[in-house]
Amino acid sequence: MAKRRKLIAGNWKMNGLKADGVALARDLAGRLRAAGGLPAELLVCPPATLIWPVAEAVAGSGLAVGGQDCHPMAGGAHTGDISAAMLAEAGCGHVIVGHSERRQDHGESDALVAAKAAAAHAAGLVAILCVGETGAERDRGEAGAVVARQLGGSIPAGATAANTVIAYEPVWAIGTGRTATPADVAEIHALIRAELVRRLETGSAVRILYGGSVKGANAGALMAVPDVDGALVGGASLKADEFWAIATSCP
Ligand code: PGA
Repeated sequence: MAKRRKLIAGNWKMNGLKADGVALARDLAGRLRAAGGLPAELLVCPPATLIWPVAEAVAGSGLAVGGQDCHPMAGGAHTGDISAAMLAEAGCGHVIVGHSERRQDHGESDALVAAKAAAAHAAGLVAILCVGETGAERDRGEAGAVVARQLGGSIPAGATAANTVIAYEPVWAIGTGRTATPADVAEIHALIRAELVRRLETGSAVRILYGGSVKGANAGALMAVPDVDGALVGGASLKADEFWAIATSCP
């Protein structure tokens, strides 16, 4: 079986104005050029307003650019929303869908997340589809069941290893400094792998990222866990040194 190339994705969330965002992206692109590329693939997902200038600033460097969300429809009367095709035109190759902050803040259901992922696929984007249990669900022993249910409801027809990445992000580990232990991560990633293999012809090749308080200091241990094919990084992706340390922790 082909080795899955690791993907290190930075989710900037609602942070950064143009000068800082472009400078951060340029810094990373410069490091990537100087290194002649890395074993891992590198991606940044800036706020929507910065996608275009960031994509222009890093063009040709190998640093990929993605969106943080898209609308399920291709166009129409949807004030404030952005379509997958708009992201693609602005320079994105990826889009995050179903992040827990979207699921919580905007009440996004599994069905809506599946529709967004399908829209991403139709526009030629890779959907980074997020799943993960809350702290209360973990305490009740329901982590595996919640993740399996989210996968069942959020993976659209037509998903393949080429157009879909899964991100396991336990909600209680996001932005808290509390990271899941390598044993917890191994257990859930194995469960996700089994679900993917059961559901998709190319399930064994789909990349599964871990997210939740990943930083330079813990990345090496997390990236060495079986079936961890990269990281989705929030806070630490806003600091070039931290993000680079995570990126270079991958063999
Ligand atoms: P964090 O966020 O790295 O700040 O915990 C991860 C995420 O929400 O993707």
